[in-house]
Amino acid sequence: MGKKSKPRIIFTRLSPYMVTDLEHFEDHGGNRIDTAPVMELCRCGESCRKPFCDGSHSRAGFVGDKREGRLPDRVKSYRGAGITIHDNRGVCSHDAACIRCLPQVFRKELRPWIDPDGAVVEEIIRIIERCPSGALSYSIGGRHFRDQKRNPRIRVSKYGPLEITGGIILKDDMESVPASREHYALCRCGKTRNAPFCDGSHFPVQKMKE
Ligand code: SF4
Ligand code: FES
Repeated sequence: MGKKSKPRIIFTRLSPYMVTDLEHFEDHGGNRIDTAPVMELCRCGESCRKPFCDGSHSRAGFVGDKREGRLPDRVKSYRGAGITIHDNRGVCSHDAACIRCLPQVFRKELRPWIDPDGAVVEEIIRIIERCPSGALSYSIGGRHFRDQKRNPRIRVSKYGPLEITGGIILKDDMESVPASREHYALCRCGKTRNAPFCDGSHFPVQKMKE
């Protein structure tokens, strides 16, 4: 038996996401979606066969360039007694998992919006590890924790991005590099200003037809 190939996501500014050798593909409810050795996934938001491409990007003249008005790709650090939380607003996909699950640390209405002493360290780590975009990471004792050990998987979030975990290799013609090579969120509505990554522009969700 030959060695299994690692899954990859390959695309250009003008093309859908070509995904190869993926085994674990699921919808937002955790239901498995059948895979093929090579699949093309919609990134323009116009396909009638979502999450798969139906060629609509050509008809729509889709171009996946970065656009004016995006937030800078910059990491800010919030130092606490037991943990330092790092945050990159430029790649947040705004699924709100952090503010919903730990509002005493991730405080939507306050500034600074992160209080690293607002909960016990273990709880903060648990929530940071659920961040799908790679916007959040943390350091303890000078060691930076950004990636996790997970199997390759693509999850189609509801009305939102493709959530990638498990270090699936991303290769495009813009030399895009995710904030974490282990997990990142790819736009599939075509509205992001930070292509190919989701920047939350799919809100309000009506922008993305399912
Ligand atoms: S992507 Fe991460 S930082 Fe952004 S809202 Fe979700 S959990 Fe919070
Ligand atoms: S899916 Fe989030 S900006 Fe497109």
